[in-house]
Amino acid sequence: MIENLYELVGGQETIKAATERFYERVMKDERLRQFLEQTDMAHLRSRQVMFISMLLGGRVYTGKEIHAAHAAAREQGLNAAQFDIFLQHFRAALEEVGVKRQNAEKMMKLLESKRKSVLES
Ligand code: HEM
Repeated sequence: MIENLYELVGGQETIKAATERFYERVMKDERLRQFLEQTDMAHLRSRQVMFISMLLGGRVYTGKEIHAAHAAAREQGLNAAQFDIFLQHFRAALEEVGVKRQNAEKMMKLLESKRKSVLES
């Protein structure tokens, strides 16, 4: 039986594929790339997969607390418009890996719910 959004979208395989596509898009975008120049991307990808899996009800997240993880980005001026672009890339990545619209919209709401934690000091 399919119990949660995590299983509904295809579990780890789908989330991993979407996260890879997502960061490929972000790194090509000069409005966002600046924040990730010093970042170990393999590490970030694996943490992000774990975090999103947790949001969807599929895994336990053991990475940094999400507000603290973005302190440096906030110091560099991370703003709401950049957060919007981040979400747009994620939405596009979900489409690229074939997540159905209804499920993609649910995922986007979960990401949107982290806006304050990421942006506000
Ligand atoms: C424009 C928006 C964003 C930018 C520029 C950004 C940038 C970054 C950067 C630079 C790091 C690395 C921090 C470090 O090396 O310690 C990071 C970590 C992380 N971010 Fe974001 N982020 C954004 C939005 C988000 C959102 C919306 C989420 C999830 C809802 C998220 C989840 C994470 C996670 C899970 C980590 C890993 C924390 C860890 O290392 O344990 N980020 N982010």
